[in-house]
Amino acid sequence: MKTRSLLPVVLALLFGSHALAAQPAAGVVAAHPPGAAIASAHALATEAGFEVLRQGGNAFDAAVAVSAALSVVEPISSGIGGGGFFLLHDARSGKRVFVDAREVAPAAATAAVFLDADGELDRDRAQNGPWSAGIPGLPAGLVHVSRNYGRLPLSVTLAPAIRLAREGFPVYERLERGYGTRREVMERYPGTRAVFLVDGKPPKVGDILRQTDLARTLELLARDGFDGFYRGEVARKLLKGVKDEGGQWTARELAGYRVVEREPLSFDYRGLRITTAPPPSSGGVAMEQIFNIIGAWDLARLDDAQRTHLLVEAMRRAYRDRTMYLGDPDFVTIPLARLTSRDYAAGLRAGIHPQRATPSDLLPALPAPLEDEETTHFSIIDAEGNVASTTQTVNLLYGSGLVVPGTGVLLNNEMDDFALRPATPNAFGVMGYAANAPAAGKRMLSSMTPTLVESSDKVIAIGAPGGSRIITQVLLGILSYAEGLDAQAVAARPRIHHQWMPDVISAEADALDAATMTALQKMGHTVNTAERPWGNLQTVMWDRKANALSGGSDPRNPVGEARVELPPAAAQP
Ligand code: GLY
Repeated sequence: MKTRSLLPVVLALLFGSHALAAQPAAGVVAAHPPGAAIASAHALATEAGFEVLRQGGNAFDAAVAVSAALSVVEPISSGIGGGGFFLLHDARSGKRVFVDAREVAPAAATAAVFLDADGELDRDRAQNGPWSAGIPGLPAGLVHVSRNYGRLPLSVTLAPAIRLAREGFPVYERLERGYGTRREVMERYPGTRAVFLVDGKPPKVGDILRQTDLARTLELLARDGFDGFYRGEVARKLLKGVKDEGGQWTARELAGYRVVEREPLSFDYRGLRITTAPPPSSGGVAMEQIFNIIGAWDLARLDDAQRTHLLVEAMRRAYRDRTMYLGDPDFVTIPLARLTSRDYAAGLRAGIHPQRATPSDLLPALPAPLEDEETTHFSIIDAEGNVASTTQTVNLLYGSGLVVPGTGVLLNNEMDDFALRPATPNAFGVMGYAANAPAAGKRMLSSMTPTLVESSDKVIAIGAPGGSRIITQVLLGILSYAEGLDAQAVAARPRIHHQWMPDVISAEADALDAATMTALQKMGHTVNTAERPWGNLQTVMWDRKANALSGGSDPRNPVGEARVELPPAAAQP
């Protein structure tokens, strides 16, 4: 069972007295949750978050702890060599902020660097080794969230991650399998071999993976904050490690990295208030477009084929606009008002034939290889009602494959999220043009969509990994909540996806029944059910009417855990 409720597990004292509030009267919503809930892709990271809450931390301290712990125990998906987005809701002030700790392009990594002699995209350079890595943002993000929103020092919030790095944790199936997929790349680099090979053998399920250099780097981050990573000993090693493998970063670029606080996107869908990721994520814009298009229809009244057809047509149009218009808002002008306007959505809706698939543009498209285990999401609600919804990544499995010697830092391969060559699909099969062309200091377009959903009586944090499939996972998750599914069922729900190019509906094996599939094919859709299941959705919900917390951790990932902890008094009937 992936969702657990431990009643009681900690002293009421640790949560503060308001956690003991009585059940609200009928029709009244609770002011504070009865405890805390955390859902993450690894039980050890979920526990790291609770460890910090028990020491008096808030959801933002817990977010730092969970983020850093995932960086240690889920190096396949994210890490301090990568970046992430933190969507935070402060219950007391009502403030919502989107902390953008996305990687940025080093100046030397121009588009030309990624083209081969024939002018084609050099995929090896785009996805492996030093050139594929952007300047990491996550360490700065941890410091920023801790200093501006947390209550505890980094020495406390990073302690669980440091311990996990130094003492190690058992390797699980996904790590072993992912290593197999990336082995050739990982073993090119002595720094990576030093971390992952024991007696020359790759990690196997049950082995203990210890990362002592990473523990030391996290200690320096805890002690010196930003400077502990971006200046001094670690920075020198990063510069040397990248140079030794043929790449080119500068000390100025590292020291000049800056987290950006952005206004989240907010919009309404059928009684739900959705607060989500603005550019440089494409997730919020695409999701708002899709919700604006489908908002005119009562999907619940339609049969499966009709509902899927309309959803797919909305997805197709939003992903086309993603390709054409989206990039780093600090570098390009995005027609945000138009893309997210209801009038524009009405125009798109008018072009949808109720019974026929609209063929996607005829640009040649490559099949998108399935890379569903990169990136990670976690969701937290604390006993004060603070919420942290965070998605972080090193991009593809084990990022660039390059661990910088002496640091334990596995660098991302986020440069592949730029449109390195116009109209050329990246690893996720998505393309782009000038808006997402690389430039010095620019953030590459992301699909990460950490989201907060509120109704008159519910508060939900939700998100997922999965590259371009993140957006549709979160969208389907919100629709599932709207249909009344509980948090665990939301995480488990079978998935469909369409991203304009390739012009195909990807569907998990149990997502569509035979009759629906036949009906969709008759409408002109191509449906592919041959892929493995994808995604790793992590969500928590506070039902304010029942004053109950719950969590959902994607059953496709057996090591994830959603857990609710209530103080003993609240556990009394
Ligand atoms: N690297 C995956 C994303 O940011 O969308």
